[in-house]
Amino acid sequence: MILVLLGAPGAGKGTQAEALAAATGAAHVATGDLFRAEIAAGSELGRTASSFIDAGKLVPDEVTIGMISARLAKPDAAQRVILDGFPRNPAQVAALDAAFASSGRTISAILLNVDVSILTARLTGRRVCPDCGRSYHVAHRPPTVADRCDACGAALITRSDDAPATVAARLENQLAALNDVVELYRASGRLQVVEGVGEISEIQSRLAATAAAVGFSA
Ligand code: AP5
Repeated sequence: MILVLLGAPGAGKGTQAEALAAATGAAHVATGDLFRAEIAAGSELGRTASSFIDAGKLVPDEVTIGMISARLAKPDAAQRVILDGFPRNPAQVAALDAAFASSGRTISAILLNVDVSILTARLTGRRVCPDCGRSYHVAHRPPTVADRCDACGAALITRSDDAPATVAARLENQLAALNDVVELYRASGRLQVVEGVGEISEIQSRLAATAAAVGFSA
């Protein structure tokens, strides 16, 4: 089964996907993480992606769909997968459906619903670990030791696309496509909605219950 976790930039997809994957043993596949790994490796794909990411725009579908297809073909993605950040427009929804049409694997979507007014503070206050990828927030999820990752001790950084001007561009450029994706899953009867505002642990419980209700559990 494939669980698509939908939400605006900063809605908490990465935070919640990490916890749900740990609880269910599913693979957590995040397109943003895949792009950042390509950028760090200095690949051609990474160079192409970084110009779009830095402008707050979606990376073109031909690049994104090829990258995610290769990732989903890996053995750890053969059973349960949580998709975080994909699909992000109608063409990507169609590509995902087409890729699994003959496999019998179910695709369900859950929207983490967060009012746009709080997204900027979530994104500009985020700090991430450059080594293990864990994400923190200066106010809502601070590390135990200031500026150090709880999991591996590395010095935390701010993502380049969390600079205020890029955050504004991401929200401006990407919310309409998210709405299109939400409506496609709603129209096909595959959408659940989980309230994404509140304590991270409360949302974790709500998400786990909703995922279990559609058959996605350990
Ligand atoms: P990506 O990395 O996917 O970024 P995003 O979708 O903008 O999502 P974020 O990672 O910013 O936020 P999140 O929802 O995961 O929130 P998080 O849990 O970290 O993509 C980056 C870029 O790559 C895109 O802009 C685009 O250019 C490109 N891209 C990616 N996928 C693509 C695709 N399919 N097609 C084309 N281009 C693509 O939480 C955010 C912060 O809030 C953290 O600090 C966290 O600690 C905090 N927080 C979380 N939950 C709560 C809570 N309940 N209360 C308070 N704070 C909270």
